[in-house]
Amino acid sequence: MTGAGPTQNGTLWWRSAVIYQVYIRSFADGDGDGIGDIPGLRSRLPYLAGLGIDALWINPWYPSPMKDAGYDVSDFRAIEPLFGTLADAEAMIADAHDLGLRVLLDIVPNHLSDKHRWFQEALAAAPGSRERARFIFRDGSGPGGSTPPNDWTSNFGGGAWTRVTESDGRPGQWYLHLFTPEQPDVDWTNPEVEEEFNETMRFWFALGVDGFRIDVAHGLAKAEGLPDVGSIAWPPVGGEVVSHPHWDREEVHDIYRSWRSLADTYKEPRVFVAEAWVHHPERLAQYVRADELHTAFNFDFLLAPWDAGPMRQSIVASLAAHEAVGAPATWVLSNHDTVREVSRYARPQNVRRFRKLADLMDLSADLPLGRRRARAAALLMLALPGGAYVYQGEELGLAEVEDLPEEVLQDPGWEQSGRTERGRDGCRVPIPWSGDEAPFGFSSPDASAPPWLPQPAEWAELTVEAQTGDERSMLELYRRALHLRRSQPALGDGNLRWLEAPDGTLAFARDPGFACIVNFSGEPVAVPEGAGLLISSGPLTEDRRVPADTAVWLTI
Ligand code: GLC
Ligand code: MG
Repeated sequence: MTGAGPTQNGTLWWRSAVIYQVYIRSFADGDGDGIGDIPGLRSRLPYLAGLGIDALWINPWYPSPMKDAGYDVSDFRAIEPLFGTLADAEAMIADAHDLGLRVLLDIVPNHLSDKHRWFQEALAAAPGSRERARFIFRDGSGPGGSTPPNDWTSNFGGGAWTRVTESDGRPGQWYLHLFTPEQPDVDWTNPEVEEEFNETMRFWFALGVDGFRIDVAHGLAKAEGLPDVGSIAWPPVGGEVVSHPHWDREEVHDIYRSWRSLADTYKEPRVFVAEAWVHHPERLAQYVRADELHTAFNFDFLLAPWDAGPMRQSIVASLAAHEAVGAPATWVLSNHDTVREVSRYARPQNVRRFRKLADLMDLSADLPLGRRRARAAALLMLALPGGAYVYQGEELGLAEVEDLPEEVLQDPGWEQSGRTERGRDGCRVPIPWSGDEAPFGFSSPDASAPPWLPQPAEWAELTVEAQTGDERSMLELYRRALHLRRSQPALGDGNLRWLEAPDGTLAFARDPGFACIVNFSGEPVAVPEGAGLLISSGPLTEDRRVPADTAVWLTI
């Protein structure tokens, strides 16, 4: 075994890691029911090892009524039967480790499923009981308590409170849910909640899991007294720091200090990555201070338009904020909640930042341009100091599926927005592996059901099989770049040095002997005298200059 094996001694592997996001429902279907599962994932581990990534992050695979695609967890220490068994999970983890891949799971500490034993007990118990104190139950205001306790809204639209019927049949208290009504928020001021999640982490750590991605890491702490949000905007306008009653509160950091001390008790310390939509690099850096989490997704980079100025600004601010706390930056272009970058970059980039399909559907799209930019973005991301995240299908250059028929849409945002926002299904369509028609090797040909979301016919050209060996394909670009990243000592953790570059271009060097040039839009730019070309995201001009929407890696 070579490379980033789990026993690699001494190195802080996570400071440079490329982590591949496995959206398990849509990765590979082993049992032919149209839904991705653990045996499917296990069978594709050699593909992932060959790609040249260091670790996987697997979206929630726990038992769930699937009201929010598994982010409504009904039992944290078991496997959802649709995905397999605990034995399948253990075998998968062992295989991954044998291939030199680490495994991170997804932990969802802000809320549970309403079908979780705790919430069922809370519903059956009386107001003021110990069972209710694990959640955020409050009496309503107004006559008969018929108005919600405050003005908070759900992330998927509508109010954040749902009223329960008490055991005597009368309308009763309200409970808080920042997401769907089937995802009641737990109360992190209750020590029982903390102990429960510690127990869950110990359970998976004992099975060899290397760490966790923390869902909604910026949402766990709520302001005392649950004051109204009022006119406080989120995301904050103009990037200023605001005090919000339930996002990014100081109190969350106590929780992560305690989690870090748990992770550090292991001989091979376990690691965390925070999902924190905090809209300010300095706020994000708070989550990765030395005694807190290891890394955090850099959504500022994800949201930056394809334009030299804002991209550079985002990189500079991210690096400075992370350096100030001694943490490595990370870079990410997409995930299961955001529009795929091919489709984002296919739009005019002079509009406001977008991540939701609803924000960009009406703008004209040039997909070949989006794909060219996504190729250049991949080289940029993998050349920057720190770690990176690759969302499944990104290495295939998949675009968002924007025209899924309404009747197949499953994202709760669709119904909760009154069917005005199509939600996130378009980036969750099952992966095309091989063959000329659906299910493109996602399921076997004798599968009993089609993929849970329909795959576009034109994905025939984008299967792993079709792209393998085609030097111009996105997949081979990723493979070559990821392998170069391992062989170039300058890449991964460290610093960069900006080089002078014409407007519309970014150029930086990394020691020893590496440079990256990205041309966002301008005239073709010359490659420095004497530099050697390692890889290019697209063809150079005849006189060896880097054209618009192209990136190169050089030895200098
Ligand atoms: C995170 C997840 C998202 C989920 C939400 C609620 O943002 O990434 O998919 O809907 O949390 O758990
Ligand atoms: Mg299956």
